[in-house]
Amino acid sequence: MNRIAVVPGSFDPVTLGHLDVIERAAGLWDEVHVVVVHNPDKSALLPIAQRVALLERSIEDAGIVGNIVIASWSVGLLVDYCTDVGAHVLVKGIRSSVDVAYETPMAIVNRHLAEVETVFLLPNPANAHVSSSLVRQVSALGGDVSPYVPPAVHEYLQET
Ligand code: PNS
Repeated sequence: MNRIAVVPGSFDPVTLGHLDVIERAAGLWDEVHVVVVHNPDKSALLPIAQRVALLERSIEDAGIVGNIVIASWSVGLLVDYCTDVGAHVLVKGIRSSVDVAYETPMAIVNRHLAEVETVFLLPNPANAHVSSSLVRQVSALGGDVSPYVPPAVHEYLQET
């Protein structure tokens, strides 16, 4: 049986913390779908297509190859995507108790909705402070985000 996990997120933009979780998931499941989801609670910086393109480049540059599918999902529930592709597991990175509080209700609802389990992975402590919102803010104010993002994202943010 091909065991599939879905790593969802806004990825606005993808950070080194995301890449760490994706790489770890790729070592644990046969196939990993990295899915860019529109989060209506957050105001977006990058269009979805750009986030997908930066994920593709960053994952390739990081040498995470072979079992990754990159997709986006903007119609309906995330668990509908999981059902469509035959995935029973969502993977989320947990940096702190704040993340646990944010993720727990979603994990319980997703299990009720479609028997999709959520697995939490702890990040590399070096990335525990990194978030897309922090990257967006530092970048908008002219700071150097290269310690927090893959080179492809750093280049893109410098050009825009
Ligand atoms: O990177 P983010 O913004 O923390 O990711 C949050 C995201 C997009 C994974 C979350 O908002 C989500 O799961 N959205 C899917 C919408 C959905 O299915 N909601 C109902 C059950 S929780």
